Amino acid sequence: MKNWDELYAECMSCRKCDLAETRTNVVFGDGARNAEIMFIGEGPGEQEDLTGLPFVGRAGKLLDDMLAMIDLDRSRVFVGNMVKCRPPQNRDPLNVEQEACIGYLRNQVALIKPKIIVCLGRIAAMKLIREDFKITREHGKWFEKAGVQMIALYHPSALLRDPRKRPESFEDLKILQAKIREICDHTY
Ligand code: URA
Repeated sequence: MKNWDELYAECMSCRKCDLAETRTNVVFGDGARNAEIMFIGEGPGEQEDLTGLPFVGRAGKLLDDMLAMIDLDRSRVFVGNMVKCRPPQNRDPLNVEQEACIGYLRNQVALIKPKIIVCLGRIAAMKLIREDFKITREHGKWFEKAGVQMIALYHPSALLRDPRKRPESFEDLKILQAKIREICDHTY
């Protein structure tokens, strides 16, 4: 396991998969290094690739609103992605790309030691919770893995595409808020 600075340096120069050829910036993830809650999306989009920061485009603005609804602030949580470089045309990251990248995320989780990991969308849920995870059926449900509470929410981009999912998502956020109140030490 690497410390934060070593890990950051390694990510910045990573060439483990073909996404390195087309990226502008590596998106390492952003937020508190002692966060009790991590939010993990799919992969950087255009704005994220240009800025090097996660969830700064339209989906990111919606994520901020979702966090605000349950009194969370970005600075107190950690936000990252399954893959740290943008897939061309925002296609789903390939399995080989996710496999090449996941060690970095595992190292980040080991350093941050979150109590809760929130998967944003099915890509993260299928990799982090269960391979055959069904987001339409299993969003808003708790799973435990190695002492960490895991939940999947609809991806903010899915909520932008299909606003009819928003009421369900609001219920999921309340479920998340209740767990935070139950097990987190920080007051949010
Ligand atoms: N979508 C994601 O999954 N991650 C980002 O960082 C931005 C959009």
